[in-house]
This record gives sequence, structure tokens and C-alpha cells, in this order.
Amino acid sequence: MTVGAVTFTVDGVVELFYAAPGDTLADVLRAGETSRGRNPRKGTKIGCNAGDCGSCTVLLDGEAVCACLVPAAQASGRKVTTIDSWKMWPEMSRLVDAFIAHGAAQCGICTPGMIGAAHGLLTRNGSPSRREIEDAIGGVLCRCTGYIKIVEAIVAAAGDAPIAAAPDTGVGTSAKNQGAAYAAKGYSNFAADAIPQGTLGIRVIRSPHARAAFSFGDLDAFAKQHDLATILTAADVPGANSFGIFPHTKDQPVFAERETRFRAEAVAALVGQNLHAIDLATFPITWTPLSPVTGIDAALAEGAHAIHAHLPDNVLTRGNLRTGDVVRGHADAAATAEGQFETSFVEHAYIEPEAGHAWGERGQVVISACTQSPHMDREDVARVLGLADADVRIAPTACGGGFGGKLDVSVQPILAVALARVGKPVSLTYSRTESMVATTKRHPARITSKASANKDGRLTAYEMSGDFNTGAYASWGPTVANRVPIHAHGPYKVPNVHNRTRAVLTNETPAGAFRGFGVPQSAIANEALMDDLAEKLGLDRWHIRRINALKAGDATASGQVLVASAGLPQCLDALKPTWDKALLDASAHNAGNARHKRGVGIACMWYGCGNTALSNPSEMRISLERDGRVIIWSGAVDIGQGISTILVQIVRETLQIDGADIAVCPLVGDTDATLDAGKTSASRQTFVSGNAARRAAEQLRAKLLRHANVDADTKLAFEHGGQFATLLAGSNGERRVSLADIIPEGFYGFESIGRYDPPTTPLDANGQGIPYATYGFAAQIAEVMVDTALGTTKVLHIHAAHDVGRAINPMLVEGQIHGGIAQGLGLALMEEFVSGKTENLHDYLIPTAGDIPPITTHIIEDPDPEGPFGAKGVGEPALIATAPAILGAIRHATGVTVRKVPVLPHRLWALLQARGT
Ligand code: FES
Ligand code: FES
Repeated sequence: MTVGAVTFTVDGVVELFYAAPGDTLADVLRAGETSRGRNPRKGTKIGCNAGDCGSCTVLLDGEAVCACLVPAAQASGRKVTTIDSWKMWPEMSRLVDAFIAHGAAQCGICTPGMIGAAHGLLTRNGSPSRREIEDAIGGVLCRCTGYIKIVEAIVAAAGDAPIAAAPDTGVGTSAKNQGAAYAAKGYSNFAADAIPQGTLGIRVIRSPHARAAFSFGDLDAFAKQHDLATILTAADVPGANSFGIFPHTKDQPVFAERETRFRAEAVAALVGQNLHAIDLATFPITWTPLSPVTGIDAALAEGAHAIHAHLPDNVLTRGNLRTGDVVRGHADAAATAEGQFETSFVEHAYIEPEAGHAWGERGQVVISACTQSPHMDREDVARVLGLADADVRIAPTACGGGFGGKLDVSVQPILAVALARVGKPVSLTYSRTESMVATTKRHPARITSKASANKDGRLTAYEMSGDFNTGAYASWGPTVANRVPIHAHGPYKVPNVHNRTRAVLTNETPAGAFRGFGVPQSAIANEALMDDLAEKLGLDRWHIRRINALKAGDATASGQVLVASAGLPQCLDALKPTWDKALLDASAHNAGNARHKRGVGIACMWYGCGNTALSNPSEMRISLERDGRVIIWSGAVDIGQGISTILVQIVRETLQIDGADIAVCPLVGDTDATLDAGKTSASRQTFVSGNAARRAAEQLRAKLLRHANVDADTKLAFEHGGQFATLLAGSNGERRVSLADIIPEGFYGFESIGRYDPPTTPLDANGQGIPYATYGFAAQIAEVMVDTALGTTKVLHIHAAHDVGRAINPMLVEGQIHGGIAQGLGLALMEEFVSGKTENLHDYLIPTAGDIPPITTHIIEDPDPEGPFGAKGVGEPALIATAPAILGAIRHATGVTVRKVPVLPHRLWALLQARGT
């Protein structure tokens, strides 16, 4: 390949970069091949390589540009500023400090681009307005934060006040997010950043048809023609050509055999160098398109093609919850409401596309990739390779967002097969489109619900039948089908309930886990019916929710008595003054406006933390080093939610040792270095792994007390100095123990292991039992403005009250709430994945900074005695109430009930026209 040279000033230094034809500025910065040697700048991130996400934003002569769009040659003679020079520029350095202090970075992959864009703004406008800030960062997408803390950080950086560093403190404080501190400086190595030079690349051949038979031509000749190391097909999989979440649903092949089941399914992969230059139109494969099964109706139709032969009716699994007598409950009611609701495929749109690399080391296959579930990845990779689990090591990289989408394996099995075949280090980075077409989505749902209440508004019955399109493979379909019936009637006391679900197989993109496992879809239905009932009974919408709200002492429809920490009444009470005022404001506005109508909606939610009625333990190891450092060997992957910081806070609070230097080992989730903490999903890590860490810390403290021969409540401290720390016990440190005397050399010399498995029970055939040890509760109010002439909806304000048990770190809790609300807004108004149409971040729209309204949060702390210091999860609860609250507000504004999301303008416009608005 011809290599040229381009010289420009980067971060204050004139450099000559070598560039291949077609290289962009992002390419040469990240490769870093210069006349003075290799100096890659991986702080410039790649989220789309197409100018849509802004994560590659750098300054070119002071102007923010997407480095992935700038041909390298155009940088010649110019000045480029990247995040790598943050220390050089006081404004950028201040921005970094502000982002850390304000919790403006979660996963952190967008953060260098955000800081780049903000730096560009602040160098030309030292005191920008909020609007100007939103405009400046409008081209940089963040899927985690909801942008509010980002804007706050930029406002702070623009001001004169010193930026106070977040402290390293215990439970209940906004301690510094350790991951953010790294990410804001561009130091986080995401999966593509971590790929070493010289690995063999992989390019996957995917089906252009939703369903097709295929046969290969002369692969050897194609490999020879393009100097490939090999071409992988199903025949190269040394073990089982299948993976999946549950032992009985390992139905997805690494490479399809004979027939594909969804568009973009992998059939083969090229392994070699410079693969992007190969014209795949000449790849020797013959396709015979077959009639696909598209949509739930087609899948359930009599005589429909069976997606998998062993499931002739295309029903993957069913869920059921039944209590009382719904027929009687409806019959005895004063009012009944019913309806059918539809939701769409929704893309996770994490800014980091899937990537990873694999190599052999000490007899093990090692895979380094972004993931939410390293131990599950290990099982699947071992299965595919026909190896024992111990022969495989998963070494997770930093994870640039997940939201459930990185719970399934993606690149991992392909990397494993490639490594097994060629015996050399290999790497694979999905393009943005590949990430969107080949990985799981939120299940589209069709839900039919019926709710009844007596004349006072007390619910008497709820019935729901929900079909969830799980696509071509099982993935997390069983989890969705089992979780939804438990939650589908909402966080309300209902004596008679019958909820049924089906996960239905189709020839569409596999649907899997996405923040809420089906509950956001069912909440849209149940909250709309609550509004219907209120209207029919002439009740206030807040009131009907308040009188039905589950509270401590109530039994759920599963027969579980909520012994404590059921804070929905407090959430609703916290929002009551806002509700009353918002209704008055809307009424006053609407009296004088015919076209732009204001509306207010309210919705509640509940969410069981952890797996549904299954054991889901976590184990945490904590070691004390001779120098006094306390290291948490955490298997709980931090995908931006801040679990590593939470664990440090819990351990600090439990140990109660002054001067303890506590940190999470950087090998987070490494299956050889850490114990299995379970997957990062189901809002379980703070609750489950937090408890495991607390138990480990309790044991460590007990050990130290024993060595010091003092009582349990004795004050402890570490005295640092020299190679070894000294343990001081007693308020005046009267007992002194050198750690060198009690800790042998080497890792884990002085360790403790904590284990926690939430107390749940299996459910019977009617869904009766204890599915979760604890539940998050919330209520949210949405205020919207609808342009009835255009059908557009602007969300003006979201007010969110969340019972989190105990906020271990209020800043992180608020960050989760903001981010969840942003995704809920997207679910309600914007996001719809359509195979073949919205397969990039240009056509698939997610909220930008300008789409997010002010968010007022009320953190309700109703401690759960089972949780670590009373805490429970908030990751998924943050999202669930948002869409139904927005839909309720649209209805209040217009009188139109929307039953299909997203409420795209043309859909709302059509509804408004139909009712003659
Ligand atoms: Fe450049 Fe997305 S990577 S805009
Ligand atoms: Fe912005 Fe994750 S912090 S994408």
C-alpha cells in the first residue's frame, strides 16, 4: 500500500505522520505512525466513523471537527488539538476537572469529544449561555448521561469559581467516580483502543437477506487471491457452533449453516490484513432468498415457517402470573379500561461499537473485549472452542456503554474461532452499521391490557396478554417473558391479576436485554389504563396512583409481602406540589393557545432488582497489601454506572479505617483475576455485589481486629510511611501492628471473600413466589408542549422521584436517573430500529443535548434492610416511567391517546387529524 506523509502540529508539537490513501485525521492520530516513532493518540475515540456521533471531535485550528470526516491531508500545516494535551491548556484542564467533579462522564467514551467541543467553545466564548453550550456539544452524542451534568460541568468550567474535586468518601456522599477521572483525560482503553498493532484483522460476511439459503464457491481461491490467512465458516468451529444465554437456549450459531435466519447474520469471516480494501461483491457465495417470517402475526399464523424446527409454533417461551379471579374483579368494578399497545425495535446505541482481540497465553485462549458479562462470555467461548472454561480467560476492556446490549457475546466467538484456526493474535472491530444490524435490540411488543377499579378508584382487576418479538434467536427472550408478567400491572395493589406473555420467534434481528427487560413496554400499557380509569371515574391521575400504590406490608400479585422499602407513596407525595402547579400552568397556557398545547403526565414504576426467581450470586475478593492499600478484586463490570466507585464507598464505610487507601484493581471482570460477580444487568450490581463487597470488608475488618487483639468497635487507622504500613488500633493508636508482620508477600496474602445471593424462591406455574429480594420504585411527571399543527412534541420538564433505598453516591444516582430519562424520552418520541433503513446514527435518532429538558430529581431513601447500607438498584428504574409519563402528557395536551411508540410527528399528526383537531 502506498504510504504518504502529512505534517501538522498536534498538541503543540510539529509531527510528520505517515498516512495511507484514504486515511482520515482520526486514522493517523489513532495509528500514530510518525517520523519519530509510534505515538498513538487513542484519546480520540471512534463511535461511527461517519460524522454522526462526534466522539472523535478534535480542534482543527481552534474549530471543533469530526476527525473521522477530515482527510488526513487536509490537516497539513494546521494545528490539531486533542484530549491528549489536556494538561497543556488551562481551559481544557479545567474542563477535565469539572467533568470529573460533576459526574459528567459515565462510560466516558463520548467524554474526550465533549471536552474537545467544549474547549473549542470556551476558547472563543468565555461565558457561553446554556443554549450556546447545547449548540456547541449538539454534534456529540452521549447515550449515558442525559447531557445535564455535561452542561453543568461546562458552565462550571466557564465560571471563575475554583472547581472543587469530588472527595474519596464513604456511603451517602458524592465521592469521585474513579472511572470518570480516567475517561475524562482520554485514558480509558475501550475495546478498539486496546487492540495491539500487528494482529490479524477479521471482516465478517453477513447475510443481505432476512432468510436465505446459501452455498459457498471456491473459498480457497478467494483467500489466495486476497492473500488471506484464512476464511472461516461453520466448518471451522472446533466445538459447538452455537451460543446463547441459557443452557437450554444455545440456539445462535457463530456462523450460519446452509440457511440464515435474519438480515446480517454471519456466514463467514475473512482473516488477514487490509481487509477493508477487499471488494466483497466478488466473495464466492450464492444466495437463494427465502420468504421471511416478519412480525408477530406472521410468526403465529397457521402453517408459518418454523424459525427453529424444534419450536413449530414459533413460541420460544411463555410467562404467566395469576392470582385471584379476574373475571369477578372486572365484573365487580365501577369502571373498566382496555386497549392494545405497540412498541418498536429499539437500538441500544452505545457509542462504543463492539470490538476485541484474542491471543494465546500460557495454554489459555485470552479474549479482551467490551462486555457486561465476562463469566458468561467465558462459558460460551469455551463451548464454541470445545474447551473447558478454565482454558479460556476473558479480560474485559473499558466498556463504552452497554444498557444490556453487551450481555450477549458478539465478537467473542468469532475471535475465538479465528484464533483457533490461525494460531496468531486476531482482532475484530464492528463498524457502526455492523453493530446496529448484528446485535440485539429491545423487544417490540404488542400488549393487550384490561384494568378495572371500583368507584373510589381502587383497582379490582388487571389482565394483560403480551407478545414480544424476540427475533431469530432466543437471547434474553425467556427473561423478558418471565419478568413482564410480574410487573405488568404496575406498582399497584391489585387483588385479581392474570398476566400472560409469549416470546415469539421471527426472521428479524434478535431481541435481547435492554434496560428494563420488557417492563418499559408493559408500563406504557398499564399507565395508560390508569389514566383511562381516572378519566372514567372522574378522579385525579395522581390520586388514583396514590391510593393504589404498593407500600410496605402489602402483598404483591406474586404473593410476596413487601416487608420494607416500598417507597412509591413517598415518591408520589414528593411530586404532589409539582403535579398541582404543572396542571395549573398547563391550564393557563392552553386557555390562550389553540395550536401549541401544554400537557402534564404522570407515571409510576417498580422493578425487581436481580434475576427473576433465580440464584444470582456475586463474590468479591478484597486484599490488604503490606503497604496498607486495600484492593477490591471486582468481577462486576463497570459500564459507566459507577459500580467500581460504589464498591470503594461500601468497603470504605464498612472497614472504618482512617487513612485506608482503597481502590478497585484495574483487572475488573478478568475471569482469572476476579471471582464471578455475575452480569452487570437487572439493576443488580449495587445490591448484589455491593452486599458481597460489604461482607468481604466485614471479614477483613474482623481479621484486623483479631490481629490487633481489640474489640469490634475499636477505632482503626493505617499509618503510612516507608514500605510497610502500620495498623493503629484504639482512639490514640495505642496498639500498633506492622502489616509486614501479618501479611505474607504476594497478592491475596491477606484477603477476604464475601458472597451474596439474593433470597428469592422459584415461582410456581401461576407466578407465585418471591421473584426478587427487593424492588426499586419511582414516579415521574412529564410536562410537554405539542404543536398540534405539526404533530411535534417538546418535553419541557421531567420531575423524577425515585426510591433507591439508600443513595450510596447521590451524584451517580442522579446520573443514572438523567441517563435513563433520556433513553425513555427516545423510546417515547424518537427511536425505531427498522432493518435495512435505520442502521446508522444518522438515520436512527437518539436524543441530543438539545432534546433533553430540565430534570428535577427527588431521591427518596426508604432503606432496604437487605441492601448494602439500605441501597437497591436504580439503573433500569430510571427509564421505565418516562415514556408513559410523556404519553400521558401528550394525551392531556391533545385528548389523543397514543398506543404506538415512538410517537413520531407523522403518527401524532395522523391521530390528531383523525379526531379532527
Ligand atoms: Fe467521528 Fe463518530 S467517530 S463522528
Ligand atoms: Fe457519554 Fe457514555 S458517558 S456515551
